[in-house]
Amino acid sequence: MAAHKVVCWDCGCDVEDPFVNTCPRCGGLLTVKMDLEPLKAMKPEDLHKEPIGVWRYAPFLPVDYDKRVSIKEGGTPLYETKALSKEFGIKEMHVKYEGANPTGSFKDRGMTVGVSHAVELGAKVVGCASTGNTSASLAAYASKAGISCAVFLPSGKVAAGKLAQAMFFGAKVISIDGNFDDALAIARKMSEEKQLYLLNSINPYRPEGQKSVLFEIMDQLKYDVPDRIIVPVGNAANIWAVYKAVKELEEIGWIDKVPMLTGIQAEGASPVAKAFSNKTADFEPERNPETVATAIRIGNPVSGRKALKAIYDTGGYSTTVNDDEIISAQKMLGRREGVGVEPASAASVAGAKKLRDMGIIDKDERVVCICTGNALKDPDTIIANSDPIFKCANDIDAVKKILLG
Ligand code: F0G
Repeated sequence: MAAHKVVCWDCGCDVEDPFVNTCPRCGGLLTVKMDLEPLKAMKPEDLHKEPIGVWRYAPFLPVDYDKRVSIKEGGTPLYETKALSKEFGIKEMHVKYEGANPTGSFKDRGMTVGVSHAVELGAKVVGCASTGNTSASLAAYASKAGISCAVFLPSGKVAAGKLAQAMFFGAKVISIDGNFDDALAIARKMSEEKQLYLLNSINPYRPEGQKSVLFEIMDQLKYDVPDRIIVPVGNAANIWAVYKAVKELEEIGWIDKVPMLTGIQAEGASPVAKAFSNKTADFEPERNPETVATAIRIGNPVSGRKALKAIYDTGGYSTTVNDDEIISAQKMLGRREGVGVEPASAASVAGAKKLRDMGIIDKDERVVCICTGNALKDPDTIIANSDPIFKCANDIDAVKKILLG
């Protein structure tokens, strides 16, 4: 395992207790500080003996490679989306398709590391609050590890595919009469009372695995650093993880340029984007978040301050997209590129279009949109926004009438 320590992101003190998720001294957010010295003598190709995927980057990860709980996560395609770049007027656009992960979202990158760490600590019960994907992923990795899992979901607001996964993988599914922020408050309380080991992204080990999406993008672009990386923002840990990976590559001298990290939120759930437009380092929580992109229907993002740091520090940007823009981008990806993503994931692509239209993205930029989850996660939204199906008698002439007019 790569040498590391957990420190407070706010006051900088070392945190020894492995079961806390906030600083015992100041209540601040935690983060992992990796010892990157061994990597300074290496080059990216030295890691290529391992196939592309999260565990290729083991020297950047704070858990033991030999004891990993893995379902072969990461190694997702980076598509060059030429039809969309042409449509948007952006020189080069790529989509990092996280829907190709084992449970269909980027969460598997964090969970392989988070659950491996939980097992190292001897945890017998893991849990999380979730808008859906985190719970689907945790349920699968807990099964793989042979430990119990409890998930707390906002009632009625979790897409069918995600709910089915959590149930299928055998988690105890608890539907909370409230939103994600309410469910997370309960999960955190259960963790403070040591009833479960918490694997929401407030756990500093989760984002460590999520760094791997950036390492893969760099490998796939042969270290020709893109100008901008666009990320949908909900609870705000993923854009922070991408930033942390960028800073680590900079520290070891593998990159000498930093991509502008750009966070996109849904209009009805946009505390980070609002803070960015007010140029503040902190955000105002929103009480009643609402959006078709249920994965990012979050008003009080735990890592919101970290996300803002990532955006400001890289000269990035943050804005909102509305539900129509999200659905339209989702359809465009499907129908022009053959890539199926869930609504929250399409927010990054909708954001690329909007920021190009606003002139924030230059026509000569090279842009990567991270598309975080698979279209099959949320079939109901797709069906509700598609043309109706043709009902047809069991008769070839009736079929011909529909097809040929
Ligand atoms: N995209 C998808 C598909 C997600 O599921 C999430 C978060 C995000 C983007 C936002 O990432 O929270 O790191 O800013 N889903 C969490 C969950 C909240 O419970 O599955 P973030």
